[in-house]
Amino acid sequence: MKKLIFIAFLSSLFFTCSMSGGELSHSAKKGKRLYKVCISCHGVKGEKNAKGQSKVISSWDKKSIFDALMGYKKRTYGRKYKNTMRMFAMQLNKKKMEYIAEYLVQVNKK
Ligand code: HEC
Repeated sequence: MKKLIFIAFLSSLFFTCSMSGGELSHSAKKGKRLYKVCISCHGVKGEKNAKGQSKVISSWDKKSIFDALMGYKKRTYGRKYKNTMRMFAMQLNKKKMEYIAEYLVQVNKK
């Protein structure tokens, strides 16, 4: 009987893991890895206002996130802390910005 309960427990664990992993697309998974350096300021899902200054990007659409990142890189977007963000945007190319934007949109969907 104990064995049975253990197996049921294991399979439920496996089930929840595969469920949560299955939600993200291939590009969003790449975005998730790239987004790791952003978490300390923006929160796991972009839900924080970084340094009390940034807007909360968890509700933003893909294009707005992409445009802001590109804008920081090209110095066409930003406010008080634009140089801080520029340091991070400079590490990203177009594709990587897309992956990150895709991740943020997917992880906040529901
Ligand atoms: C050191 C803290 C910090 C880190 C790390 C950081 N950011 Fe930011 N981010 C900020 C701040 C502060 C702002 C507001 C900048 C300004 O004044 O324009 C901002 C703004 C933004 C914006 C636009 C929102 C707005 O307020 O207009 C986006 C999108 C963004 N960050 C994405 C990212 C991504 C993606 C990463 C990782 C590659 C990242 N940030 C890493 C602090 C950070």
